[in-house]
Amino acid sequence: MAEKEIVETSEAEIAVHWGEEEYYHPSTEFIAQANMADPAVFDRFSLENFPNCFKEYADLLDWYEYWDTILDTSDAPCWKWFSGGKVNASYNCVDRHLAKNKNKTAIHFVPELEEEKIEHITFQELYVRVNEFAALLRDFAGLKAGDRVTLHMPMSAELPITMLACARLGVIHSEVFGGFSGRASADRIVDSQSRVLIIMDSYYRAGNLLNHKENADIAVDLAEKDGQKVDKVLVWQRYPGKASSPTPMVEGRDYFVNDVLKDFYGRRIEPVPMPAEDPLFLMYTSGTTGKPKGCQHSTGGYLAYAAGTSKYVQDIHPEDVYWCMADIGWITGHSYIVYGPLALCASTVIYEGVPNYPDPGRPWRIAQELDVNIFHTAPTAIRALRKIGPDEPAKYNYKFKHMTTVGEPIEPEVWKWYYNAVGKGQAAIVDTWWQTETGGFLCSTLPALAPMKPGSAGKGVPGIHPIIYDDEGKEIPSGAGKAGNICIQNPWPGGFQTIWGDRDRFVDTYYARYCKDPNSKDWRDWPYMTGDAAVEAADGYYRILGRIDDVINVSGHRLGTKEIESAALVVEEVAEAAVVPVAHEIKGKEPDLFVSLKPGYDASPELEKKISDTISTEIGKIAKPRHVWIVKDMPKTRSGKIMRRVLGAISNNKDVGDVTTLANPEIVEEIKQMAGQ
Ligand code: WT7
Repeated sequence: MAEKEIVETSEAEIAVHWGEEEYYHPSTEFIAQANMADPAVFDRFSLENFPNCFKEYADLLDWYEYWDTILDTSDAPCWKWFSGGKVNASYNCVDRHLAKNKNKTAIHFVPELEEEKIEHITFQELYVRVNEFAALLRDFAGLKAGDRVTLHMPMSAELPITMLACARLGVIHSEVFGGFSGRASADRIVDSQSRVLIIMDSYYRAGNLLNHKENADIAVDLAEKDGQKVDKVLVWQRYPGKASSPTPMVEGRDYFVNDVLKDFYGRRIEPVPMPAEDPLFLMYTSGTTGKPKGCQHSTGGYLAYAAGTSKYVQDIHPEDVYWCMADIGWITGHSYIVYGPLALCASTVIYEGVPNYPDPGRPWRIAQELDVNIFHTAPTAIRALRKIGPDEPAKYNYKFKHMTTVGEPIEPEVWKWYYNAVGKGQAAIVDTWWQTETGGFLCSTLPALAPMKPGSAGKGVPGIHPIIYDDEGKEIPSGAGKAGNICIQNPWPGGFQTIWGDRDRFVDTYYARYCKDPNSKDWRDWPYMTGDAAVEAADGYYRILGRIDDVINVSGHRLGTKEIESAALVVEEVAEAAVVPVAHEIKGKEPDLFVSLKPGYDASPELEKKISDTISTEIGKIAKPRHVWIVKDMPKTRSGKIMRRVLGAISNNKDVGDVTTLANPEIVEEIKQMAGQ
């Protein structure tokens, strides 16, 4: 990445600095084997053919009862896809592959420690383990269709086994990213009203065996204080039969899964035929207010969309070894490590640890050993590997046909390293733009049908029709060189159904702004607002510039600034807190925190550390600020609003602009000096 780009404050400015890039063309070898090389797909999925075009995706699944209504809009904008249909996600990801492929690897689990053996789980073994665990969930934990259960699990084979066992019963899983704190887990337990928590006792991260069990104890205590009692904690063991967490088990509440499983050996559970529009899972994500939103994803629509996009955008064939180096605790892992690839009978790789352990050659050794041919990761990982091991990929003998980037904008320089060094100039790249809410891809090139352009996601994928609106709701045409709010004109099967328990917030956040008629039952009146800024080039490719709301994208994941600010306010001494995004070479963005103290308290390095540690415990290490600046006062407008724009400029070493209209302009100079400017 060029130095000058590192210090930009505004995403729009970055875009201005990037000129138009040249096209890169996929190889004829790739095109010859691609799942989708028929340009007519875009006619089939045109707006004129909407919504019937999505029958093609529904037909990738096996249904107990075929649906009768493709799109039910009667409760707009809570769309119901494939109404009347009955389907089971676990059946579609496991059982239906047994007849032809029971002996094929479904999951390659790669432990972080290189001396530990890779676990290769066949579809038959996955079937057995999912069934036995489903029996345990039903008959020991008392769970049934429609109940919610919180999972706070690290990257492990047991995580998809747990998800698929829930799906088998119609139990709604809510997986919390393993790196999140006990507090974050508690909030999600309370919001989803889970009475069962499933965790793993420990896992490896950067060479250390982390005690994860302690997070369960914190979560259960805090959840109970907030009114949600957890009566069972099911604990998978990182090493079955061996204690690897010092945190004791609580009698009558905590159970080691592998002990209880002994009672369920050989048990088989018929998958429950679920109505297509019943929820499959919740996935929490950050918004502009403090409380995370539980995005509710459906069974039929979601699974059809994850399978369809995995097949046509990821180009997954059953014979592929596919590695999405993301965490299952995020939506990327749900759609593109677990549900999409397994629905297509591919072999999916699950890697426990960090990409650079024990050295930056690790990902390429894994690729070489397993003969991975599709690779998927985020710009933050690509930047890190480019920085610390730029020449590593060339040392290993692997061949990718296809690579993905996801989660945040990728700088063209970084894209080119990915293409040339990691892809060895042979792999097609897709830059997939989407969100937790959308279940699957929104914009990307179809790899065999359109050239790649570094830094641009591409056009809408089949059946997705984006539009950019200005603040007045007027369309900004392609080639105008102006950014605006990118929206999607039509619903699609992967889209979330609502925010769990908060329909009003769902409508307000995503639809209120550009809705043409709040009483309408016509989907044309309800464009979906993504909350991202974007520009559309003359060729129709979209370049995503980043969030327009108060959300910071750290390493490809959304953190609400309000969430971090409320965590800082938990510290007794803190009076006010303001978070601003600061550009970071590897993570993309990082939060920088400014706080002022209550009267009678003084700044000290110990207090800075206390505040920073509190944020790690309240949210997780991912939210740790770059720096905690304890300031005498915040720069404020005369009406008392904190001027985050000014703080952002200081953090990013930029010109603060005109501050004379502030209530306290002198503080700006003081803060600048403190920041060494
Ligand atoms: C936000 C969604 C997509 C799953 C992982 C993150 C940004 C995502 C791209 C991309 C530019 C991207 C957007 C989006 N984003 N993909 N290819 N190019 N920006 O899911 O945590 O819900 O975050 O990530 O700003 O709104 P998420």
